[in-house]
Amino acid sequence: MNEHPTGFDHDYLAEAATVLAHDEPFPGGAVVPPIYQTSLFTFANYAEMADTFAGKRKQPIYSRGDNPTVMEFEARVAALEGAQAARGFSSGMAAISATVLAFVGAGERIVAVRNCYGDAYRLFERLLPRLNIKVDYVDGSDPDAVAAALPGAKLLYLESPTSMMFELQDIAHLARLAKEQGIVTTIDNSWASPVFQKPISHGVDLVLHSASKYLGGHSDTVAGVVAGSAAHIKQINEQTYSYLGGKLSPFEAWLLLRGLRTLPLRLPHHMKSGLTIAERLKAHANVERVNHPVYSNHPGKATLAGYAGLFSFEVTDDIDIPVFVDALKYFRIGVSWGGHESLVVPAKASLEQTPGLNSMARFGVSPRTIRFNVGLESVEDLWADIAQAFEKARK
Ligand SMILES: Cc1ncc(COP(=O)(O)O)c(C=O)c1O
Repeated sequence: MNEHPTGFDHDYLAEAATVLAHDEPFPGGAVVPPIYQTSLFTFANYAEMADTFAGKRKQPIYSRGDNPTVMEFEARVAALEGAQAARGFSSGMAAISATVLAFVGAGERIVAVRNCYGDAYRLFERLLPRLNIKVDYVDGSDPDAVAAALPGAKLLYLESPTSMMFELQDIAHLARLAKEQGIVTTIDNSWASPVFQKPISHGVDLVLHSASKYLGGHSDTVAGVVAGSAAHIKQINEQTYSYLGGKLSPFEAWLLLRGLRTLPLRLPHHMKSGLTIAERLKAHANVERVNHPVYSNHPGKATLAGYAGLFSFEVTDDIDIPVFVDALKYFRIGVSWGGHESLVVPAKASLEQTPGLNSMARFGVSPRTIRFNVGLESVEDLWADIAQAFEKARK
């Protein structure tokens, strides 16, 4: 193990940097892949076409299926996650929906962590029942609750930590339980990224990312990806990928490849600044609790090799939340996260907006919860910003 700024047992950072550095030269010796901005790929003759369609010859056919720039991104993510294969998508949600629907059909059931990402929850609540697919929600931090829900399910959907309350799941234990029953396990690993958590090495079958977050890292792309065994990715290709049509564009794949090169540099910075701010918030008189995995004793912590810069906290009653949020200058008000810039999300303004699907009430998220995406700015500037916002917001 080399000198590792996170102080964790695993060191995926150095490994990630090496994986990303081993680019083969591209055509003409270019160090950066070309953007294959083309919808289709032609064949020199009848035999080439026939052999390619018969699988005897490898060549991209049409960019809704394969595109070399996208394939380069997929290969990088597969290598980072320790997977045999990966598939890029036009968004994290396209990756999530195509993955779930590739493994579950009418009359079947999935088990999902109750505090999963809001639009994954809405997919499960709105679309899946129309397809006669049942979803049971569990407190993923309680292995007995998951064990009780698993028998007969087709798919287990994890997200560790969750992205509003930052609750952990013991993914190694849960993946083992699922595997014993032939249940496919998926995890949304957008928070940790492959430099802080490698779920496949802990028995998880399929790793999902909103690549719009840390993989891209620059808030300029919406994209998604799923990584797993060749057989599982083949099932996604054959069951949903081409027909749902949520393919990744070559230009966005190129932006993601550009983002990935600095992933092992960005994550330790997000971690360090995030921990500094979390610690200061914890000691602040106007903060009741900080929801950050660093403060958890859950066994699910064992699979983390670092902490991302996204976490939440609850403020005391005497803080006027709209005034606090509006007073922040470096923390822009906005959803998403994982980019270079700091962001703030007040839970009450963002989670209460879907009638009938109020995840705040359902999952016990306090209306006094505020989420920070700690970006790459100077941590002292960020803290000064927070301190002055508290001053203004005190009633
Ligand atoms: C934890 C998590 N998973 C998945 C998604 C969905 O990804 P996308 O917005 O790329 O579709 C998001 C988006 O915010 C997210 O926060």
